[in-house]
Order: sequence, then structure tokens, then C-alpha cells
Amino acid sequence: MTVCEYRPGLEGVPATQSSISYVDGLAGILEYRGIPIENLAEQSTFLETAYLLIWGELPKAAELADFEHEITYHRRVKYRIRDMMKCFPDSGHPMDALQASAAALGLFYSRRALDDPTYIRAAVVRLLAKIPTMVAAFQLIRKGNDPVMPADRLSYGANFLYMLNEQEPDPFSARIFDVCLMLHAEHTINASTFSARVTASTLTDPYAVVASAVGTLAGPLHGGASEDVIEMLEEIGSVANVAPFLAQRLTHKGKIAGFGHRVYKVKDPRATILQKLAETLFEKFGSDSYYDVAVALEQAVAQELGHKGIYPNVDFYSGLVYRRLGIPTDLFTPVFAIARVAGWLAHWKEQLEANRIYRPTQIYAGLHQAAYIPIGDR
Ligand code: ACO
Repeated sequence: MTVCEYRPGLEGVPATQSSISYVDGLAGILEYRGIPIENLAEQSTFLETAYLLIWGELPKAAELADFEHEITYHRRVKYRIRDMMKCFPDSGHPMDALQASAAALGLFYSRRALDDPTYIRAAVVRLLAKIPTMVAAFQLIRKGNDPVMPADRLSYGANFLYMLNEQEPDPFSARIFDVCLMLHAEHTINASTFSARVTASTLTDPYAVVASAVGTLAGPLHGGASEDVIEMLEEIGSVANVAPFLAQRLTHKGKIAGFGHRVYKVKDPRATILQKLAETLFEKFGSDSYYDVAVALEQAVAQELGHKGIYPNVDFYSGLVYRRLGIPTDLFTPVFAIARVAGWLAHWKEQLEANRIYRPTQIYAGLHQAAYIPIGDR
């Protein structure tokens, strides 16, 4: 076996073979199972897209109806999980609450039968159904309210907004939210998906797989960037302040949140769609002063960093859409997780279909035969 050169961040190193999604970072193309993301965003729904990702093909009408029905039926979470959340500190980050709650599902559904398609289906349904309920429940609990029970009459996305805001969303907002979920559902072997696949490769349960991916998504270099974008736009405050802010950040070698991507060297196609969604929301419900700042920042960053391929990524415009939908800033990443569960589960299933435990190598750069110095002599 040849020893390969070490590449920090595994840049350019294939970590798996997959047929779930495809990215061309120079042409700005993203496809799920071969279907361009733009077509899905235009015509599909999140649950249909989740089915496509997980089972590899678009469902027939009856298959989709069954899938939607099962997910609707499984939306409730055990009262013990809700009680467990009541013990979490209100000041805790919702991503930590979600990671703990996702892992806790494994305590309640402890049977593990990874070669049984019925088990796989039940786990997929439970996770897709319960993650939104748990995110909304923590939000209400930390506000001192009782969680709102899921409403069976509402679609997947509409039900989440209803549980979160204690009010049914209008159909336009619900559709926009559903499109956001589709856009965030899957993105090849990013950090959290890699984490999910590594965890899956040990043949542990799917709740541990999702919990480990949630923990990975939380970081500011990954899903956590959408929160930082809003904080950054707040700090900039006005279009006039964009140039001095950028100059100062770049002088101190700081990163601009929501820009740059390991794979995309052009504007992320999801950012283009999200920007359009933000504009349609602002046309309907009034504008957001941060939007002008965001557009000015995009132009300024293109001028300063375009030559390095630094353009907006998925996190840049998503927060502006979520703000308009009444989603608090620290729930942006949990909302990302609600969507990405579909991709993680697709990778879990694919990993199991041709599993070999992940066990890469390392290049040792430490000492050999070092002396053990007794504690009193150090
Ligand atoms: N702002 C300013 N400069 C940047 C940015 C940025 N956002 N991103 C990359 N660069 C610069 C780096 O300073 C570096 O420049 P140099 O070669 O002169 O030193 C060069 O571009 C390469 O950057 P790396 O950090 O090495 O690129 P990497 O592929 O390792 O990181 C990442 C990609 C983490 C996304 C990075 O672009 C970043 O930190 N962006 C900000 C955080 C962010 O938006 N994360 C969300 C990504 S999308 C997602 O995960 C869902």
C-alpha cells in the first residue's frame, strides 16, 4: 500500500464513493441524484426530495403519500424527551439541545437491526418526523411555554413554523420555508456528512449517527456560519460602513462569514436561489434593512476576494430569509439540521450498503522512546 502525502482538511482526498449528490464547484452546479437543485426548488417538496435522496429515485404518488403519512404520524416526541429538555439550561445553545435530544432517541428506540429494511425505514421516518418537533419544543420550553403539539393537517414545513411561532404560517411563507429545507438537504461529503458516515461505519444506531452529525454541523466554519452572518450584518449596520468593515477584517486576516467554500469557487447556486427567495419575501412583507448591507457586502467581497474564488455560500442569504419567517437567529443552524437529516440518512443508508469501518492512517510527528520523568523531577 502506498503512503500518501498528508493533505490538511483532506482537501481533494476522496473519502467515499457516493451517488447521492454532485457538485461542480467551478460551474456552480449542484444535483441531487442527478436532478439540478434549481428544478427541485421549483417543482418538488422537501419530503419528496428527502425520499429521492434516501431511496435514490423520485417516489410515485402513492409512495409519497405513504411516506408523508408515516412522517405525520410519527411527529410527536415522548413526554420524557420533552421533560428531559425542561432540565436543559435556557441559556444553552439549541444545537446542543438538539444533539442531546437526537442521541436520546436512541434510548427509546434501542433495537438495532441494520440489515432489516423495515428497521431502516422506521428510523428514517422517526428522525425526519421528530427532529423538527424537538427543535420547536426546545424553543418554547426555554421561553417558559409548553411545547405546541404537531398539527397533522399541516405540511412538514408549515407544521414546524406553526410549532415554533404558535401560529399557522401563510401558504407563501410555508412554501418558501419548504424550499429552504430542500436547498439545505444534502451537499456531498461535507464535514457533518463525513462525520455521519464515519459514525455509521461502526454500525452504531442511526440516532448516534445523526447526533454526531449535529455536533459537527454546529461549528462556525460549517452550519453555524448563518448565525454569524446576521451578527456581522448587525455590526456593519449600514451600506456606508461596508467598505471600512471589510478593510478592517481583511487587515486582521479575519474571515467574512457566509463567504468561501472548499468546493465552490463561484457563487454557491443555493445562495443565488436563497437571494431570490429573500427578495420575494421582502416584496410581499416589506424589506429588511440588512438586505441592502448584504448586497453591498457581496459586491465589495467580490472585488477584494473574487480572484481567490471567495463568493457567498449557502449561509449568506439563508439568515435573511429565516429572519423574515420569524425564526430566531440561534435556531438557524438547528433549522439547517432539520433539512440536512435527509442527506445524513441517505449517507447512513449508502454507507451500510457497502460498509467498511473508517480507519484512516496518520503521519506520526512525535517522539519515540521518550523518557518517563517521575512527577517530582519535572
Ligand atoms: N473571508 C475571507 N477570506 C476567506 C474566506 C472568507 N470567508 N474564506 C476563505 N478565505 C481565504 C482564506 O483566508 C485563504 O486565503 P490565503 O490563501 O490567502 O491564506 C483562502 O481563502 C483559502 O481559505 P481556507 O480557509 O484555506 O479555505 P477552506 O477550504 O479550508 O475553508 C471555509 C472553507 C471553512 C468555508 C472558509 O471559506 C470559511 O471559513 N468561510 C467562512 C465561514 C463560512 O461561511 N462557513 C460556511 C461554509 S458553507 C457550509 O458549511 C454549509
